[in-house]
Amino acid sequence: MKILGIESSCDETAASVIEGKNNSVKVLSNIVSSQIDIHKKYGGVIPEIAAREHVLEILPVINKALFDAGIEKKNISKELSAISIANGPGLVSSLMVGIETAKTLSYIYDIPITAVNHIEGHIYANFINAKKIEFPAIVLTVSGGHTMLVLMKGFNNFERLGETRDDAAGEAFDKAAQLMDIGYPGGPIISKLAERARGDKNITLPRPMINSNDFAFSFSGLKTALLYKLQKDKLALNDKDFKNIIPEYCLEFQQAIIDVLIKKTIKASEKYNAKSVLLAGGVSANKELRLQLEKNIKEKLVATTFHKPELAYTTDNAAMIASAGYFKARDNVYIDWKNLKVNPNLAL
Ligand code: KG4
Ligand code: ZN
Repeated sequence: MKILGIESSCDETAASVIEGKNNSVKVLSNIVSSQIDIHKKYGGVIPEIAAREHVLEILPVINKALFDAGIEKKNISKELSAISIANGPGLVSSLMVGIETAKTLSYIYDIPITAVNHIEGHIYANFINAKKIEFPAIVLTVSGGHTMLVLMKGFNNFERLGETRDDAAGEAFDKAAQLMDIGYPGGPIISKLAERARGDKNITLPRPMINSNDFAFSFSGLKTALLYKLQKDKLALNDKDFKNIIPEYCLEFQQAIIDVLIKKTIKASEKYNAKSVLLAGGVSANKELRLQLEKNIKEKLVATTFHKPELAYTTDNAAMIASAGYFKARDNVYIDWKNLKVNPNLAL
C-alpha cells in the first residue's frame, strides 16, 4: 500500500511517499523544504510569511516526492492508495495550504484521504523501518508545540496521560536560546554548545515538577530561572567570561529538561507496565535525550524495549504523516474531501 503524505503545519513544507506492509513502513521518498533561514532573523515563525512560502513550495515538493518514488503523473491514481494530510494542530494559515492541496489532488486523481493529527504523525515516525513494537507503549512526545506522555494501547488507540501546562520542551529550548542570544531554533544550538561545556561552574537550574504526582510538565519557570542567572552573570562578568560561561548554561539547561522528561517517562512506563517506550517529536533529535533515556530504560525497566525515530524523521517531515496515514488506511479510516477541515487546536 503506497501513501502520499503532505505536511505543512508550521514552517516545513514536506511531501513523502511510503510503502506500508504489515506493521512497518518503508520510505520511498522524503522531501522537506525548510523555512528556517527565513524565520530565524525574527527568532521564531511568522505565520503570514510561513503560509506564503508553503504556497510557493508545496507543488514542487510534491512533484519531487512523486518523482523520487518513481511514480509518473499518468500512474498516480493507480499507484497511490491514499493521500495522508496533517489537519492540525498547527498554524491555521499553514495547515490550510496543505489541506487545500490534498483536497484538490484527491478530487482530481480520485484517491481517498486520511486526516492525521500532527502529533500522531510524530508517534508513527517510530514505525518507519520498525522492528517489532509491542503494546502497551508509553510515548514521550516532545516538540516545539507539544510535550506529552501518551499511552498507546494499540494502533490508532491513544490516551493522553499528561502534558505541559505552559511551554513545550522545544519551545523552552528556543526561548532559552533567544535569552542567550545564540540563534534559532534553540534545540540543536544548545545541544551543540553543551558538548563544549566542562560542567565545572556549579550552575544549577530547577527541575520543575520532577516529583509531582502526575504526568504533567512545566518549563516556563526553568526559562525564568535561566534569565535571572544570566542577568546576574552579565553584571558580574566581563564580556569574554560571560561568553565562555554560555556553554555551561546550555549543558545545565538541557540536563534539567532531560531529567524531568526521563523521570516521568519511567514512572508512566512502570505504572502502565509498558512493553515499549517510544520517543517522538523534534526534541527527539536531541542526542543526550536519546542516549540517557535508553540507558535509564535498560537499567530500570528490564522487560521494556526502547524505540526512537531515525534522525531524518524526528523534526517535521511528511514520511511520518504518510506512516500514520498507512495505519489508518489499512483500517479503512478515510475522510471525504468535502468534510476535511483545518483544526489548529486538534487534540490527540
Ligand atoms: O517537531 P518539530 O519539528 O516541530 C513541532 O511540531 O513543533 O519540533 C521542533 C522543535 C524546536 O523547538 C527545536 O528547537 C527542537 O524541536 N529541536 C531540538 C533538537 N532539534 C530540534 N531540541 C533539542 N535538541 C535537538 N537536537
Ligand atoms: Zn512537529
